[in-house]
Amino acid sequence: MDESQRKIALVTGANRGIGYEVCRQLARSGMQVILTSRDAAKGERAAESLRREGGQLEYHLLDVTEAKHIEQLRQWMAERYGRLDVLVNNAAVLLGEDQSVLNVPIDVVRTTMEVNFYGPLNLCRAFVPMMKKTGYGRVVNVSSEMGSLAGMGSDSAGYRASKAALNALTRIVASEVRAYNIKVNSACPGWVRSQMGGPHASRSLEQGAATIVWLATLPNDGPSGGFYRDQKIVPW
Ligand SMILES: NC(=O)c1ccc[n+]([C@@H]2O[C@H](COP(=O)([O-])OP(=O)(O)OC[C@H]3O[C@@H](n4cnc5c(N)ncnc54)[C@H](OP(=O)(O)O)[C@@H]3O)[C@@H](O)[C@H]2O)c1
Repeated sequence: MDESQRKIALVTGANRGIGYEVCRQLARSGMQVILTSRDAAKGERAAESLRREGGQLEYHLLDVTEAKHIEQLRQWMAERYGRLDVLVNNAAVLLGEDQSVLNVPIDVVRTTMEVNFYGPLNLCRAFVPMMKKTGYGRVVNVSSEMGSLAGMGSDSAGYRASKAALNALTRIVASEVRAYNIKVNSACPGWVRSQMGGPHASRSLEQGAATIVWLATLPNDGPSGGFYRDQKIVPW
């Protein structure tokens, strides 16, 4: 493949789970993948194992709550590649699941918002301007139907609120870049057998990654500003 034609994708929280599988599938599709994680040793190991499968991957450190990491990564991307084509905001935490909204420690909610909402917001602020310059971009915010206002429950208050806010971010950024060939969408992977989903979840990592990869590889006439599961619109 002509290297200048190869799309460049960055995935957050990709040392395990759905993010790791998204890296595998994007690399298989021929993309240059930047696999990131907050733990360097785990991330390096993950990137190495996918390189052994034949993928073009590089590792970079990224704790999505660290402004310094985001700025270092932005500079590294600008110098090394001069662009970013695909951003998958996948990293997230699910904390205080069983606690009521009325007494879950407020720091649990704050930490959740830092990772699940401010992280993606800051990554968009770092990389969407690069996409605007090249006139191409695909941003996938990995959300959850637990953040759907149409079907709210009382558990996991911080997580639910963070994903509702992430969905709002999808709409806001999509609206900001309407004039460009940049598609910004939310994806719900369904209930997936990862550390977060647990061993009894109904879906494999491959199934969970499918809609994310579809949105990351949308054609120029593809949708923007939507919330998808199994490649179909789900209610906000
Ligand atoms: N699994 C499900 O059933 C399900 C359902 C709906 C939506 N989702 C969404 O799918 C996405 C992936 O979830 P998953 O099931 O793969 O979860 P997971 O197995 O728990 O993996 C989460 C990943 O996020 C990383 N992470 C956490 N905090 C981070 C931070 N501050 N900076 C960078 N990385 C961080 C973790 O890194 P460490 O290894 O260092 O902790 C890990 O790599 C999430 O957005 C989640 O909300 C999952």
